[in-house]
Amino acid sequence: MRERGEAIVLIGFMGSGKSSVGRHLAKRLRLPRYDMDHMISSRIGRTIGEIFERDGEEAFRAAETQLLREFSKEAAIVVTGGGIVLRAENTAMLRRLGSVVNLAADEGTLFERVSRRRTRPLLKTPHPRGTLRELLRAREPLYLAAADFTVDTSALRHEQVADAILARLEKCG
Ligand code: S3P
Repeated sequence: MRERGEAIVLIGFMGSGKSSVGRHLAKRLRLPRYDMDHMISSRIGRTIGEIFERDGEEAFRAAETQLLREFSKEAAIVVTGGGIVLRAENTAMLRRLGSVVNLAADEGTLFERVSRRRTRPLLKTPHPRGTLRELLRAREPLYLAAADFTVDTSALRHEQVADAILARLEKCG
C-alpha cells in the first residue's frame, strides 16, 4: 500500500489564499473540497470567532486534530486553517493524506489581505500588524518543514497559484 494518499493539502498563513486556491483546484480537478474551518464551524454550530471566544483556542485545536483523524487518503482538496502546523501530530497526519503545499506571501501582502475581513480571532489585538509579524516568524519554519513545496502567492492571482501547484505536482509525478 502506498504510504501517502492522493489528496492535495493546502497549508499556510492566514491570508495566503488557501480557501480561494482550494476552490479553483477542486473545480479544475473535479475533486471534493474539504475546508477544515468550515467543517469545524458547522460541526460545532458557531463561527470560528465564537469558538475561540466561548470555548477557547485549545478547544478549536482539539477539533482540528479530531477532524484530521477522520479524513481518508482519497483524492480531494484539503484546505487547512493557518494554525494546523502547530501540532506535530497534525503535520504527520497531513503528510499521510497526500501532497502538502505551502502557500506563502510576504508580510505586507498577508496583512493587506487579512485586513479586508475582521474574522480572524488571533488578529484581534491592539497591534494586529505586529501580532501578524510575530506569528509569521514563529510559524514560517513549521510550514516549510511540513510542506513538499512552497508557492509564493504574493504577486499571483488564484488561478495562477493553482497552475503553479499543478505544474509542480506533474513534475514530481
Ligand atoms: C488560524 C487561522 C484561521 C482559523 C483560526 C486560526 C491560525 O484560518 O483556523 O482563526 O491559527 O492561523 P485561516 O488560515 O483560513 O485564516
